[in-house]
Amino acid sequence: MRVLVTGGAGYIGSHTLVELLGQAHEVCVLDTYDNSSPVVLDRVRKLTNGTVTAVQGDVRHDDTLNTVMADFAPEAVVHFAGLKAVGDSMTNPLGYYDVNVNGTIALLRAMDRAGCGRIIFSSSATVYGEPVYLPYDEAHLLNPTSVYGRTKMVAEHILTDWAQASGGTAVLLRYFNPVGAHASATLGEDPADVPNNLMPFIAQVAVGKRAHLNVFGDDYDTPDGTGQRDYIHVVDLARAHVAALDYAATHTGARAFNIGTGQPYSVQQMVAAFRAASHQPIPVVVAPRRAGDIAAMQADSRRAQVELGWRATHTLDDMAASTWAWQSGNPDGYGPRTGDGDTSS
Ligand code: NAD
Ligand code: WQD
Repeated sequence: MRVLVTGGAGYIGSHTLVELLGQAHEVCVLDTYDNSSPVVLDRVRKLTNGTVTAVQGDVRHDDTLNTVMADFAPEAVVHFAGLKAVGDSMTNPLGYYDVNVNGTIALLRAMDRAGCGRIIFSSSATVYGEPVYLPYDEAHLLNPTSVYGRTKMVAEHILTDWAQASGGTAVLLRYFNPVGAHASATLGEDPADVPNNLMPFIAQVAVGKRAHLNVFGDDYDTPDGTGQRDYIHVVDLARAHVAALDYAATHTGARAFNIGTGQPYSVQQMVAAFRAASHQPIPVVVAPRRAGDIAAMQADSRRAQVELGWRATHTLDDMAASTWAWQSGNPDGYGPRTGDGDTSS
């Protein structure tokens, strides 16, 4: 299939490009490089020996979208482009709604104009909010507690209504906690500032960029008192998009899928796994709970197993070892962000 990948230079997008090219899909990336770099796409080309057409542009801009649709004529879109920092979303709500919601509307309008009827959307487990029960299944109440989460929930509603009205297909992938890196150690997560998320923070402590990890609370109602999450290896997550495209080729309407392993790990377990993978001490300091955090969450991913034929295969050790290989091999990530990369290749 010809697949337009918005945000394809980002963390999850870049790993997905590798899997798409591996399954003989043709890809075109649309990315501003606001939170990434065109260097990433060179690495994907090198790794796969594949063609990655790239357009530098904004998913909210009609002219850019019309040009991409006319030139590339995608049969499906995988829509990663968005803003994802929970804290920033609370202080910049309009900016988050603009990119995450208006960006999705602009993309759907452009798809309608071009006659493209399939979209795979990057949603998040954060749409569920405080658990009513665990593991979350897809029927769980949607009650997000952050602006970021609400932008994802609103976008899901819009995609659902669009699919209903147009006869198109919207696959809503609710990612749990993506971690890890490509086995080549040439692709990985490269936070622009101080990492918000646990795994990249641990990795930066291990490589000596930060003195210690703050453990946000050790008095939760969990087996060791630290927060539990359902971490999903980014390569497993990338493969879920390939499975979703196959699904979209034979189904219409909107359908949500949890993409997690169903196996929660605590902060302490993540640190222990990383110490084992890196042979580094990784000092930790217990700090107060982080505002807005919940104690534990995990996915019921049976729907994805049954209907997408997808399941995670990577282990916790794979997550830690691949993150360490990436971080130690690329201590400064992809280098400085330029934001003025190639517009095509
Ligand atoms: P990322 O920031 O690495 O990738 C997003 C990409 O989109 C970047 O390359 C960025 O430059 C680009 N972009 C941003 N605004 C754009 C715009 N207006 N037009 C075009 N390109 C734009 O993030 P990621 O971790 O790869 O996440 C990808 C998607 O998955 C996001 O929508 C995110 O909300 C969602 N998601 C991420 C996580 C996670 O923990 N990483 C979890 C759940 C859902
Ligand atoms: C995991 C655990 C922290 C950092 C966030 C978003 C969510 C999704 C994924 C996009 C928690 C603890 C963390 C640190 C710590 N993103 N922690 N010290 O909060 O589950 O989810 O990223 O969709 O929307 O909210 O992930 O990695 O930040 O935290 O102790 O320095 O690690 O308290 O228990 P979270 P996280």
